[in-house]
Amino acid sequence: MRDFQFSCHIIFLFFLSLIYISKGFEYEEFYINQKVDHFGYSNQDVFKQRYLSNLKFYNEKNGTIFFYTGNEGAIEMFANNTGFMWEIAAEFNAALIFAEHRYYGKSLPYGELSFENNTYRGYLTTEQALADFASLIYHLKNVLPGGLKAPVIAFGGSYGGMLAAWIRIKYPHLVNGALSSSAPILLFSNSASCKNFPAIITADFKNAGISCANNIRKSWSIIRKIGKSESGSMFLTKTFKTCQSIHPVNVSSLIEWLESTWAYLAMTDYPYPTNFLNPLPANPIDVTCNGGASLGDEVWEYQECTEMVSPECSTGTTDMFEPKSWDFNEFSLECWKKFNVKPNENASYIMYGGKDITASSNIIFTNGRLDPWYGGGILQSLSDTLIAIVIEDAAHHLDLRSSNAADPDSVKKARYTIKEWIYKWIFEYKTH
Ligand SMILES: *[C@@H]1O[C@H](CO)[C@@H](O)[C@H](O)[C@H]1NC(C)=O
Ligand SMILES: *[C@@H]1O[C@H](CO)[C@@H](O)[C@H](O)[C@H]1NC(C)=O
Ligand SMILES: *[C@@H]1O[C@H](CO)[C@@H](O)[C@H](O)[C@H]1NC(C)=O
Ligand SMILES: *[C@@H]1O[C@H](CO)[C@@H](O)[C@H](O)[C@H]1NC(C)=O
Ligand SMILES: *[C@@H]1O[C@H](CO)[C@@H](O)[C@H](O)[C@H]1NC(C)=O
Repeated sequence: MRDFQFSCHIIFLFFLSLIYISKGFEYEEFYINQKVDHFGYSNQDVFKQRYLSNLKFYNEKNGTIFFYTGNEGAIEMFANNTGFMWEIAAEFNAALIFAEHRYYGKSLPYGELSFENNTYRGYLTTEQALADFASLIYHLKNVLPGGLKAPVIAFGGSYGGMLAAWIRIKYPHLVNGALSSSAPILLFSNSASCKNFPAIITADFKNAGISCANNIRKSWSIIRKIGKSESGSMFLTKTFKTCQSIHPVNVSSLIEWLESTWAYLAMTDYPYPTNFLNPLPANPIDVTCNGGASLGDEVWEYQECTEMVSPECSTGTTDMFEPKSWDFNEFSLECWKKFNVKPNENASYIMYGGKDITASSNIIFTNGRLDPWYGGGILQSLSDTLIAIVIEDAAHHLDLRSSNAADPDSVKKARYTIKEWIYKWIFEYKTH
């Protein structure tokens, strides 16, 4: 127990001391009118989708459009943490566009009421989000000087990486190639891989010293035992400094929070300090002070309860977590209780094809071996133009970040390869 407390302390201190490295990313903010429903003609509602733009490097004679397909959050965070696009923009004469995902940040289809009921939130699907992105690309190609002949390269990390791959698959006439970084696309169609996620986190912790993982594994039963009594849960409240007190009924919430903390630590195991996923250090405060998840979390939970079913499981032996099996029916029931929706575990495969996408082309899938999501990624090239790059020493989409003196060679090499492919796609488009 003492060891555990000690190592947790160190990790928490590390966590809280994360600092922000400002690179001075400069962009202008724009809004484009989008249909709330791209796929029907009765709902005429429109909303303003936000995007960030920097045209400094763009050249109307020989320009490219770099388009970031936004994730589940406010878009500035992704613009600021995708230094790779900024660093290579000049050599590709690229316009930098970062598009916000509907229902996140300032792109709310029904303003504050967007999440009010199922009518209003029912337009939150990946299909609608991709249609927003496609409409924006169409618009940009028409308004940017030379835009109609400018090739478009999509970029994205994590969920945004899935969207980057999928927009190339669904809209190949608008998007000429895509970099899909750390996108666990196969998670949905292969629930067996759910145990990879906790196993990779555990491996990362083992790399840092084996007793750490073992102590974390032991901690769950100890926390549960202590948390059974009021006095014990009071002790947990004090130990973890939660704003709201923990009672025996909600020891599981504490455990869930701790589990996600370990997961985020593994994801952001970068070779230098960052503040990406900034809500993380603030998470304990958010979760326990507001008595619940923030709106963004709830929106993502809704996505998981519809198309983005992400099986979660752990064994307690191949990983350091409490054993937990994946039960789709139970998950479905919870979604029904929470949002009045039933998830479709096959929706994403039917819509996008999982790894059966060889009819598509020009996509690079990068995955860092240290990233817990690695297990759900595409790790082997699927064709001559659907390229998988495994980055040995990288955590969650390290390749997308700005270059740094501490970067391992593997990520430098990956970035070089990515650039070569982008050159090739652009050349082929122009000489086609
Ligand atoms: C992003 O970077 C800009 C300029 O460097 C800064 O003003 C802004 O606060 C940053 N936003 C986030 C969410 O990091
Ligand atoms: C056009 O851009 C490509 C890369 O995007 C570059 O290799 C080429 O030299 C450029 N040509 C001119 C004429 O600027
Ligand atoms: C959803 O909420 C909006 C705004 O409060 C309301 O106008 C609409 O009637 C509601 N729809 C349903 C089906 O409850
Ligand atoms: C624990 O449960 C109690 C009673 O349901 C609640 O008031 C409290 O906010 C919960 N605490 C945490 C940290 O979730
Ligand atoms: C998904 O597909 C499997 C196998 O075809 C089927 O058993 C299952 O019922 C489907 N799930 C849903 C929610 O439709």
